[in-house]
Amino acid sequence: MSRDDKLLSSAIEAIGHTPLVELARLAHGMAGRLLVKLEYLNPGFSKKDRIARQIIEDAETDGTLAPGQTVVELTSGNTGTGLSIVCAVKGYPFVAVMSKGNSPERARMMRALGAEVVLVDQLPGSQPGQVSGGDLELVEQATRRIVQERGAFRADQFHHRGNFRAHYLHTGPEILQQAGMPIDAFCDFVGTGGTFAGCAAALKAANPATKCYLVEPEGAAVLAGQPVTNPSHRIQGGGYSMGELSLVKPEHVDGYIQVRDEEAIQVARRLAREEGIFAGFSSGANVAAGLQLLSGPFKGKTVVTLVNDSGLKYLSTDLWE
Ligand SMILES: Cc1ncc(COP(=O)(O)O)c(C=O)c1O
Repeated sequence: MSRDDKLLSSAIEAIGHTPLVELARLAHGMAGRLLVKLEYLNPGFSKKDRIARQIIEDAETDGTLAPGQTVVELTSGNTGTGLSIVCAVKGYPFVAVMSKGNSPERARMMRALGAEVVLVDQLPGSQPGQVSGGDLELVEQATRRIVQERGAFRADQFHHRGNFRAHYLHTGPEILQQAGMPIDAFCDFVGTGGTFAGCAAALKAANPATKCYLVEPEGAAVLAGQPVTNPSHRIQGGGYSMGELSLVKPEHVDGYIQVRDEEAIQVARRLAREEGIFAGFSSGANVAAGLQLLSGPFKGKTVVTLVNDSGLKYLSTDLWE
């Protein structure tokens, strides 16, 4: 299931089938294997291209999206970039609603891909680069208003089954086929939880013994039942302190892992320097969590996680010196 050599009819067909790579240098000296799926090699440089395609194609199939209807989505940038690509190719006007706290290169990229980008102010006292649950609530209100005003289809990544299905039908099965060995553990930093739930369901269907760990920022680990002490963490794309994620079911979750901002940043830098993998904060969090598993309960085993998006999306931040 490698990238096909055949001629594709559009960039949409180039979504998915990303490589799976063993982090043999980063995990040097540790017993076991840490495998990562290079999702930054998607056309929009993130895993969220997959859900953009699935949500739009599922909505076309079930008739909830009419030809030429405007598509609207609340996004931290990556889902919006995926939707910009899919909507550009398929001819749907697309409006991305995003917090001003997300890095500006995301908005510029979506505009370049033909999207209309609406930026929503953060709460007083919030920091750019640190989007809290409260900031996200303001983006949610603006999104609802725009959907109503335009009679639009809302992609609704926090609830649409297409988000889960993209990873259940594709990402998870790709991991199983590419790994060629039993997967002992999977971990993923959650925003909507669509990746976590879809992959967990696929991996567990193939091997019920696979354990799946939900990753959250330390100080904002509400799903693990911990109090929120650091709502303005640095790990963009998730950790929104939402008490419930509709796509994540209890049977998907075997445990919870917390990652500190500094740990995510250091591991993202090591990924670049030691593995040649140029990724963002949440990929650092995923690999940090994978290393925790490998050095703890999964010593000598095979652990899988995702490299979610490209480090190019964070050039304006202090992730890179
Ligand atoms: C960079 C990044 N990391 C992680 C996530 C979380 O993925 P999911 O929404 O599937 O939980 C997102 C989601 O937007 C993201 O953009």
